[in-house]
Amino acid sequence: MIIAIDGPAAAGKGTLSRRIAEEYGFHHLDTGLTYRATAKALLDAGLPLDDETVAETIARKVDLSGLDRAVLSKHEIGEAASKIAVMPAVRRALVDAQRAFSLREPGTVLDGRDIGTVVCPDAPVKIYVTASAEVRAKRRYDEIVNAGGSADYAAIFEDVKRRDERDMGRSDSPLRPAEDAYLLDTSEMSIEAAFQTAKSFIDAGLSRNA
Ligand code: C5P
Repeated sequence: MIIAIDGPAAAGKGTLSRRIAEEYGFHHLDTGLTYRATAKALLDAGLPLDDETVAETIARKVDLSGLDRAVLSKHEIGEAASKIAVMPAVRRALVDAQRAFSLREPGTVLDGRDIGTVVCPDAPVKIYVTASAEVRAKRRYDEIVNAGGSADYAAIFEDVKRRDERDMGRSDSPLRPAEDAYLLDTSEMSIEAAFQTAKSFIDAGLSRNA
């Protein structure tokens, strides 16, 4: 059983996916962390971000059991990740590892940008989570401020839009909803309401596949 969750940056996929995995007792993989881990390894080693062969070699070495969200969540790492994510060889390497993960029993939840379209096109349940760029920027802003940091809303908003353009505009595996994905726009929804809606989609998918 595979649940595929896609959507743009800061749409709330991570929170939702973790909650779903807990509810159903499934393994969860935030595939963004695999791109981030590759980018961080390149940055740490002082290697260039624009050499596809080097980046692929590093991507093949990423250990899915050692992905630390706290370490990888830094802004610069996200920016570097979205740059190397345009490289087909890097994507192939990471998609191989993600597909292997998706087969774990009793089931998996994978979240990212291309799970329903490329990584697991046969997943029985696909959800495309989105929210307006304004709402996503505000959520990210609140997250930083609530954690005691200082943030600039306008800069975050520009960043969200730039990331969307890069993710939706790339030629290999651009961000888009799979044709058979449920659409979940969380702009006006609480986390709880989004979770309950997602759960109704998943339960419908599970009973169809039973
Ligand atoms: O979701 P997150 O912000 O952690 O992802 C970092 C970057 O990795 C994204 O901006 C995107 O370019 C890339 N990514 C991707 N495909 C995925 C997951 C993330 O291209 N399945």
